Amino acid sequence: MKTTVESLFKKKARGEKITMVSTYDYWSAKLCDEAGVDCILVGDSLATVVKGEENTLSVTLDEIIYHARCVRRGAKRAFVIADMPFMSYQVSLEKALENCGRVIKESGAEAVKLEGGKELAPLVERLTLAGVPVVGHLGFRPQSIHLTGRPRVVGRTEEEAKKLREDFKALEEAGAFMIVLESVPSELARELSESASCLVIGIGAGRFVDGQVLVFHDLLGLFEDFKPKFVRRFLEGGKLIREALKRFKMEVERGSFPSEEESYG
Ligand code: KIV
Repeated sequence: MKTTVESLFKKKARGEKITMVSTYDYWSAKLCDEAGVDCILVGDSLATVVKGEENTLSVTLDEIIYHARCVRRGAKRAFVIADMPFMSYQVSLEKALENCGRVIKESGAEAVKLEGGKELAPLVERLTLAGVPVVGHLGFRPQSIHLTGRPRVVGRTEEEAKKLREDFKALEEAGAFMIVLESVPSELARELSESASCLVIGIGAGRFVDGQVLVFHDLLGLFEDFKPKFVRRFLEGGKLIREALKRFKMEVERGSFPSEEESYG
C-alpha cells in the first residue's frame, strides 16, 4: 500500500515507529522500498556522501530535483521527501514558494523539508495552504554549519531548549506535518514529541520520538569518512564491497574471469 501523510499518522496512532532513510538514487530507493522503509528523504547530505564535499551548502535545486526523480522511479510505495537546498527558501517568500513548487512539480517528491524555526512559519503556512506537505528540521541544522564550525548537540542549555520549544511550536502551528530533530538531548526530544500533534522523527534525538532517520550510506557502513555517535552500522558494506572488488581484480589478473560460461560462443 502506498505510504501517505494519512497512513503515517495512522501508523503513529497504532503505536508503531516510522522509518526514514536518506538516499539519492534509483537502486538504493528500490532497496529501501522493498525493505518496507516508510519514507525516503532525498537529503542535501548528498553533498557529503555523493559529492565528497565537507558540508551540505553547495547542493543546488537542480541536483535535488535530479536525485529526487531517480529516487521516485525506485520508490513505488515509500513517501518521498525532498530537502530544499541552502538559500533556495531564504531569499523571499515568493522565491521560496516558486522553488518548492518546482521541486514538487519536477521531481515527483511528495513533501519538502526545510531547516529553520519560527522565521519559516509564514512559508510553512503558505505551502500547507497550497497543498504541499512540509517537514521541518530543528536541533542541529547542517545548513548553518558556519555558525558553529562543527556538528553539535542543540538544547542542552535552558536558553537553547526554550528556543527549540518555541521554534517547534511555531512550525507545528504553521502546519508542518512532520519535524525532524537532529542532535537533541533525548529527554527534550521526548518532551516535544509527547505533546506534539505532528510526527517527530529523530536523528541523534533518542528513542522517545515517533520514528528514526539515518543516511543509507551510514547505516550500511558505505560511508566511512566519519561516524557520528548516533549512527549504527547495520552492515559493514564498505568492507564487503572492497573485498568483492579485490576478488574481481585478482580473478581478472590471474585470468579466471571471465570463464567459458561468462563468455559468448
Ligand atoms: O540531509 C539529510 O539527509 C538530512 C537527514 C540526515 C535528516 O537532513
